[in-house]
Amino acid sequence: MIIGILGEGSADKRVAITPEHIATLKALKAEKILVEAGAGTAASYPDADYTAKGAEITSRQQVISQSQILIKIHALNDEELAACKGKVLIGGFNPLSNTAFVKACQAAGVTAFSLDVIPRTTRAQAMDILSSMATVAGYKAVLTAATHLPKFFPMFMTAAGTITPAKVVILGAGVAGLQAIATAKRLGAVVEASDVRTAAKEEVLSLGAKFIEVEGATEDKGAGGYAVEQSEEFKKRQQAKVQEHAGKADVVICTAQIPGRKAPILLLKETVANMKPGSVIIDLAASTGGNCEVTENGKTIVVNGVTIIGDSNLQATMPYDASKMFGKNILNYIKLIIDKDGNINLNFADDLVTGTCIAHEGEIKNERVKAVVTA
Ligand code: NAI
Repeated sequence: MIIGILGEGSADKRVAITPEHIATLKALKAEKILVEAGAGTAASYPDADYTAKGAEITSRQQVISQSQILIKIHALNDEELAACKGKVLIGGFNPLSNTAFVKACQAAGVTAFSLDVIPRTTRAQAMDILSSMATVAGYKAVLTAATHLPKFFPMFMTAAGTITPAKVVILGAGVAGLQAIATAKRLGAVVEASDVRTAAKEEVLSLGAKFIEVEGATEDKGAGGYAVEQSEEFKKRQQAKVQEHAGKADVVICTAQIPGRKAPILLLKETVANMKPGSVIIDLAASTGGNCEVTENGKTIVVNGVTIIGDSNLQATMPYDASKMFGKNILNYIKLIIDKDGNINLNFADDLVTGTCIAHEGEIKNERVKAVVTA
């Protein structure tokens, strides 16, 4: 079996597999590992590091034509897909939004596995690219806020007077939010966080942050640990509570999401107008509409002296470690679809294989993706 690693071009500095992962792929009895020339360069992994580990560097076209398994972070274009009939693709293809790619895979006769829809079970944790990337994004969100804030994060008692610590509010305490809390605490900020899941409260408190409580949130045990849409009445009360806390904050980090839906609006225009000049909002939910009403996806704007950064791809700004984590998730996953002799063996009785499969012989196996594509 030949495994190919494709680069992401100028779209993303990350790479799906780093040189340190090559040895594991070889141990899985891959006959050859082909890497597109320059695939890891932007993530600080030169071609020579891949060859030193036993991979072969070649052109993108050769990687596609020779490999049985292709690994890439983002979707391939239609022309490339057409050359992939019968091949297996593994990545994070955003199939709940990029339904065109799912349809293109079905039409091209490709088998595609998208790890961003892997079931949220204990066994899947080591393959969960959303968690890995949320860890990077939550960390980087705090550092980005710190560089834009015209203030210190920690408290200082100096001969030139006392500097009070920054106040940070984190909305959404999932993987990204918890990492943001931990990072802001490490930098010495006073941190408050909010979430609609009761389980999140204990996690927030255990990290030393204060929990902003809004009574009466709707929870659904059948939602697999995810948040669900809230009532209009709850949303109004939550927005009022957020306004009260954001008005005193120096930084607000927005991470609240509901899978497959538009992000909840937690910071209204009026809330932003009420914030202190110089304060910073980082909106990680920007690509799904943002938690802040005035966020513009992919842009940094200043409204009434408040800097609002709408960026759902902060993981790409730390490509070295983000690639390392992404690659490790892929390695853990690939073991599920390769037998001990190094041959592809797709076991659709395994919920993780079925749960990530967005195309196989023209069929969509992931139920959530199937429902969205056929809607
Ligand atoms: P996410 O990225 O989907 O959402 C981020 C956070 O926003 C969540 O904590 C959510 O509750 C919160 N949120 C949604 N609407 C909100 C609102 N109106 N106000 C305030 N907060 C709101 O979440 P993520 O990080 O993917 O985690 C979701 C759940 O999945 C958690 O229970 C987590 O523990 C679980 N999980 C399980 C894994 C596994 O077992 N393999 C891996 C990763 C996460």
